[in-house]
Amino acid sequence: MSIISSDIDQAVQILLTDELVAIPTETVYGLAGNAFSEVAINKIFAMKERPHFNPLIVHIHSVEQLDAIVSDVPPKAKLLADKFWPGPLTLVLQKRDKVPDLVTGAKDTVAVRIPNHPVALALLKKLPFPLAAPSANPFGSISPTKAIHVKQYFEGQLKLVLEGGDCENGIESTIIGFENGKPILYRHGSISLEDIIAVVGDVKVQNKKEIAPDAPGMLERHYAPNTKTVLVDDVALYLVKTGATNVGAITFETSSKPNNVIYLETLSPDGDLKEAAANLYSALHYLDSLTLDIIVAERFPDYGLGRSINDRLERATKGK
Ligand code: TXA
Ligand code: MG
Repeated sequence: MSIISSDIDQAVQILLTDELVAIPTETVYGLAGNAFSEVAINKIFAMKERPHFNPLIVHIHSVEQLDAIVSDVPPKAKLLADKFWPGPLTLVLQKRDKVPDLVTGAKDTVAVRIPNHPVALALLKKLPFPLAAPSANPFGSISPTKAIHVKQYFEGQLKLVLEGGDCENGIESTIIGFENGKPILYRHGSISLEDIIAVVGDVKVQNKKEIAPDAPGMLERHYAPNTKTVLVDDVALYLVKTGATNVGAITFETSSKPNNVIYLETLSPDGDLKEAAANLYSALHYLDSLTLDIIVAERFPDYGLGRSINDRLERATKGK
């Protein structure tokens, strides 16, 4: 019997016993457990083989639930929540004592969001606690945008992957924290920097190490395929220069395939960055499943969601 199922009540039963369930969201699938249970949280870190200094995002179903986990919501955080929740925006806010240190990497802030996915919301509404959920992939590897990706990673370890279809946005949430009420972007994501700025004005971008000032650089390689991957300005030119063979390529809108490219993933033939973002991880998963010598990805335009795509591609191509 497959671990992929649409049975929300079964997910509730599993989560009530401090076990884990993979859940669909509009960004990527999450590996979810009771955010108030240290037993469940430890299982998340163990299954992902994730270092404990890298804190988790807590998922809630409504703004009313926010009060149980954070002590203060700055005015600009409220503006962003009003505009983008439910949706792919994570806010980093002052935490209440009730949130275990394990969730936040002992920080006094907690990352929180309301996901915009009917299955995730229906599940959250049936539970007496919020769900801590990192992306449902082993630490450092490509995030899952289909239930089958999660199954391939965790079959045998996980009882249930809730089916929710392909993730609509396809890359992680945009993460915004605050310093003296001023917004700081910690991670580019499914909401563009331009869209955040349109709501709150100036935003400081501080996304170079995914968190963890105590561990600089450690998270630079992330979202990475097993196959060697490079990011270049022009795929065809790169191939001429290097003479590489047995190549898989990723382009934005170009669909002409150079000779030595075995498989080409054009992320959006119409040149739509939102569509490209939605297709990015699934293209990487697919190319990584072929036995290629190299994946060559083309740099995206550096604005809007192109910036978020470039961020993921840069991290996917950092040397092993
Ligand atoms: O779209 C998403 O955000 C997905 C879905 C499942 O919701 N989740 C996700 O979780 O991407 P994860 O664990 O892969 O990334 C969470 C990131 C951490 O890497 C860390 O950078 C940041 O959230 N984070 C969490 N708590 C934080 C805090 N207190 N301060 C700063 N950054 C924090
Ligand atoms: Mg992740």
